[in-house]
Amino acid sequence: MGKLEVRRAEERDLPACMAMFRELNQLQDPWRVFEPRPGIEDEMARSYRAALEDPDALLLVADAGGEVVGMAAGHVHRPSTFSEQKAVELSSVYVQSSHRRRGLARKLTAEVARFARARGVDRVTLKTFVQNEEAVAAWRRMGFETRALQMTASPDRLID
Ligand SMILES: CC(C)(COP(=O)(O)OP(=O)(O)OC[C@H]1O[C@@H](n2cnc3c(N)ncnc32)[C@H](O)[C@@H]1OP(=O)(O)O)[C@@H](O)C(=O)NCCC(=O)NCCS
Repeated sequence: MGKLEVRRAEERDLPACMAMFRELNQLQDPWRVFEPRPGIEDEMARSYRAALEDPDALLLVADAGGEVVGMAAGHVHRPSTFSEQKAVELSSVYVQSSHRRRGLARKLTAEVARFARARGVDRVTLKTFVQNEEAVAAWRRMGFETRALQMTASPDRLID
């Protein structure tokens, strides 16, 4: 493996980021309850591009000697409807399978945490599917704790 660096994404990285988005989207497809709207891929492409310029967002890539092998995004948001307090939402975390278990997600996450700190934000949040056991294990190892559980049922299941 060449020299490894976590850095801000640039315009030229967007095709690699979109390829990873498609992989991540495919992985998560069996766990989705709510069907993605048509055009979601274009929306993500616009959102990744916008993150390159937005002071409230960042898009990071893990660069292994010129090859993009991982990514992570972050944006400032207000996670609680009861609170004005801001957090940075970590999202779109993907590491190519050939580069997993080498600390890349940890590095990407630390960089998002530095962004949060620089913005004066003292929480990092993320959402993951409970079925994504590998990711849940990784997030816990890194120090994330579960704050809320979203539960769903069809109305039919709830009416006797
Ligand atoms: C989840 C994912 C991002 C982890 O990336 P990674 O670069 O392999 O993770 P790291 O090597 O930085 O590991 C961070 C910590 O999590 C642990 N970990 C990583 N993968 C794990 C797994 N499959 N099972 C258990 N623990 C795991 C590591 O041991 C490490 O802890 P340690 O440093 O205390 O040993 C990667 O598996 C991935 O891209 N999966 C597919 C996409 C996905 O699910 N993204 C998350 C969506 S919410």
